[in-house]
Amino acid sequence: MYRQGMQQVVMTLALFCAVVVAEPVVAATRLYDQLGGEVGVVAIVDQFLFKLADDKRINHFFVDTNVKRFREKLIEQFCALSGGPCTYTGDSMQQSHAGMDINLAAFNALVEDLIEAMEQCKVATGAQNRLLALLAPMHQDIIEKP
Ligand code: HEM
Repeated sequence: MYRQGMQQVVMTLALFCAVVVAEPVVAATRLYDQLGGEVGVVAIVDQFLFKLADDKRINHFFVDTNVKRFREKLIEQFCALSGGPCTYTGDSMQQSHAGMDINLAAFNALVEDLIEAMEQCKVATGAQNRLLALLAPMHQDIIEKP
């Protein structure tokens, strides 16, 4: 009886450890690597810029944008956010979108364009969701009207 009880405890502990050990292995997969590292992030941003330029719902927001800087800052931002070896040196999300009157529909349109860009770059769905989850909270600083 006692032995059976012990066996159960040991098995339960073993299961627990398996879970504890398995957890960091999953978390250790850097999103940056899942996106394809530097080459991958640059490719995603470039596809994203093409999508934005073609998107009649929101391309009017970018008519006066310095595309070279925007591209550079987006690459830095996606790289840094995903755990890559970069530092974001651009303006805060609040500063860079202030006064643009961006609404939820415009925000969602931009997110759709990013998803299409990632699809085109063959980014796995799980990795897409990881990047989107990091970007989603930024809506608070970007959207100014309902
Ligand atoms: C999660 C969503 C978004 C992210 C991560 C993001 C990221 C950025 C970054 C990194 C910059 C460059 C900042 C700098 O120059 O220092 C920027 C600028 C800009 N963003 Fe966004 N943005 C987002 C949503 C939007 C939306 C929804 C719009 C409009 C539909 C928009 C329009 C712009 C424009 C027009 C600029 C250029 C501003 C300028 O010319 O100085 N962004 N954004």
